[in-house]
Amino acid sequence: MFQGRVAVITGGSSGIGLAVAEKLVRAGAMVALVARTKATLDEVVARLGAGSAHAFPLDVCNLEALVALPGQVIDRFGRLDYVVNNAGVNHRGSIAKHTPLELAEIVTTNLTSAIVLTRAAFPRMEREGAVVQVASIAGMVPVPGEATYSASKAGMRAFARAVAEDLAERDIHSGCVCPGPVDTGFFGDIDTVPDVVFSQPMSSADQIADGVLECIRTRKAEIVIPRQSGRLATAAYLMPALARRLQPSLEKRGKEKKAAYVARKKRP
Ligand SMILES: NC(=O)c1ccc[n+]([C@@H]2O[C@H](COP(=O)([O-])OP(=O)(O)OC[C@H]3O[C@@H](n4cnc5c(N)ncnc54)[C@H](OP(=O)(O)O)[C@@H]3O)[C@@H](O)[C@H]2O)c1
Repeated sequence: MFQGRVAVITGGSSGIGLAVAEKLVRAGAMVALVARTKATLDEVVARLGAGSAHAFPLDVCNLEALVALPGQVIDRFGRLDYVVNNAGVNHRGSIAKHTPLELAEIVTTNLTSAIVLTRAAFPRMEREGAVVQVASIAGMVPVPGEATYSASKAGMRAFARAVAEDLAERDIHSGCVCPGPVDTGFFGDIDTVPDVVFSQPMSSADQIADGVLECIRTRKAEIVIPRQSGRLATAAYLMPALARRLQPSLEKRGKEKKAAYVARKKRP
């Protein structure tokens, strides 16, 4: 079903976005890859082949550049079928640790850009296309120490669900994929990642990319990976008292798993 289709993927130069790009190209699609670092994008395009991939180096916080993007993708590839809003950033710790503008950057990168690109793209997309938001389980149950990030991801989930009706008028699917922890460079400084994040099973970028393709193929509203972590997150959100009771044991388990993860990463 992906043969000859065209996808724009923000954050397409590494981690989940790159894995989505690789899978789509393998399935016969063409990909427009967005990230800030041109050199990394160029390497990926060289690897995937210039006939199948094209680099669009831009910062998704540059909303005017984002509005112009769908037209540029159509100029390059002749059509646009899928949008994967995947570029993301997180500044962890108490909000007091970060400037107001750093916090705003999280919302602009993760949520505002997704809304702007969806709005700019959908009138020009082919029928039976799809817009997929890569949100997070942190958008299902807010994570202390990741308040603004959690808010941005909850916003992506809400947007994906509510905008579905608008997109359906053009037979475009609106979906959302919510990963738990994923083994990518996104963790950054591991010491800043709350222990509780590691209490849940770690997925690979490949597994999340499979979820994105499944979301397009099956037109599911939301896919949570791992599913069991999603159920736990929903229960914790609906029952804050239960969440408070579970918190110490989840943190203990997370701390142990985080130490094991760090040790594994240090191995040659
Ligand atoms: N890894 C996890 O544990 C996890 C869990 C749940 C959800 N997620 C979500 O999954 C998405 C992808 O994360 P990942 O794990 O694949 O991270 P990653 O490997 O760090 O990749 C992030 C990608 O986004 C690009 N990017 C970041 N800021 C950007 C900006 N302002 N404009 C354009 N591109 C930008 C990066 O390239 P440049 O730096 O060159 O711009 C890179 O291509 C994020 O939205 C994240 O919130 C991740």
